[in-house]
Amino acid sequence: MRAEGAGPEDTGGAGSTLLPEAGEAGRTAPHAGGEPILEVRGLVKHYPLTRGILFKKQIGAVKAVDGVDFDLAAGETLGIVGESGCGKSTVARMLVHLEPPTGGVIRYKGEDVTKLSGRALKAVRRNIQMVFQDPYTSLNPRMTVGDIIGEPYEIHPEVAPKGSRRQKVQDLLDVVGLNPEYINRYPHQFSGGQRQRIGIARGLALNPEIIVADEPVSALDVSVQAQVVNLLDRLQTEFDLSFLFIAHDLSIVRHISDRVGVMYLGRIVEIGTDEEIYDHPTHPYTQALLSAVPVPDPTAREHRERIILHGDVPSPANIPSGCRFRTRCWKAQERCELEVPLLAVPAVFREADTPARHDSACHFAEEKQVVPQEDLREQPGARRPPALREEDGGPGGPEPGATGGPGDKQG
Ligand SMILES: Nc1ncnc2c1ncn2[C@@H]1O[C@H](COP(=O)(O)OP(=O)(O)OP(=O)(O)O)[C@@H](O)[C@H]1O
Ligand code: SF4
Ligand SMILES: [Mg+2]
Repeated sequence: MRAEGAGPEDTGGAGSTLLPEAGEAGRTAPHAGGEPILEVRGLVKHYPLTRGILFKKQIGAVKAVDGVDFDLAAGETLGIVGESGCGKSTVARMLVHLEPPTGGVIRYKGEDVTKLSGRALKAVRRNIQMVFQDPYTSLNPRMTVGDIIGEPYEIHPEVAPKGSRRQKVQDLLDVVGLNPEYINRYPHQFSGGQRQRIGIARGLALNPEIIVADEPVSALDVSVQAQVVNLLDRLQTEFDLSFLFIAHDLSIVRHISDRVGVMYLGRIVEIGTDEEIYDHPTHPYTQALLSAVPVPDPTAREHRERIILHGDVPSPANIPSGCRFRTRCWKAQERCELEVPLLAVPAVFREADTPARHDSACHFAEEKQVVPQEDLREQPGARRPPALREEDGGPGGPEPGATGGPGDKQG
């Protein structure tokens, strides 16, 4: 089921509102297809900006997450991509209760977990676990691998009574491809990829239903990334897990995700199946991100359009009015300054039977195949469609100054 945008007189964009409020009533979010195990609506995290030492006065807020909506179905992998600082990790931390949201709803199996406390919250936390980005800092160097992986059992002894823990940890080591005999070793005795496997084993210790993986391979060598991604892929099938997979690398996200959400400055601006997002993007930001992904096939590269975004991402403490992408968007018009585009199926695609019919927060959404598919390459009009800010960088990866691509990862 797809969300339909508001605004009957829309001329081509998604639904819109004159009020730039996050999480407003009546907003819908893209459905995952199956019954959602997790529903996120209008999720907000604002960090107050204060002045003064003794008498602190709030003078503003860093709007790290500013109205995020999505569903996650059982057994599904939803990828989240976006430039550094767009709020991906903040979303992840709120989902696993490392931080309370400023507003919005997180429903796990229909129940709003932001309102839970005590035992009920503990039970939910068990089912939503996190795998962190940096395997070097996320593991306590003074603990053995056995203690690290088994630590969650101290809080949830019902999952593994004391006598059975060693065996359980060894089973988990085996599951993630490590020798169970390594149980007494320390983190520094492992490589980066192996440490991330330990982090994954720890994430699996409580038999969760959902894994939130925040850039789980970004800190690893390219040669090891594929192994860890394949491991996650296998574990998902084996344990029937739902994954929220956060990453910068659009190729990795496509490889592992059933659906993909593109984030910009605290909100999801486009979301759909991997085919809809990669082959039929309709939001200018997604199109720019895709245009910066290196294309190995020389013929495809020749036909690929390059879109260079100019200017920096605005500060989340000072978000532009209307469409938050308008200061960098080559298609921006007056309406973009005045009206906030909602995440919904754009009016032009609502009746159409096309993969472009997916949620996109743009008043002037248009399909653009950044890398035309093979059968379209030779058709008239398919070659290098014009863009106002296209610059030809020739073969190779993203040009210097291009933003939004995997080259932006800050490490
Ligand atoms: N505790 C905090 N106090 C104030 N601002 C914060 C805090 N945590 C995060 N932010 C800000 O919120 C914004 C979003 O940060 P977040 O870490 O979620 O981004 P991200 O998309 O995960 O970036 P990256 O790709 O670099 O990991 C950033 O501008 C960040 O500086
Ligand atoms: S600024 Fe660009 S992305 Fe935003 S609504 Fe306008 S055309 Fe769409
Ligand atoms: Mg992050």
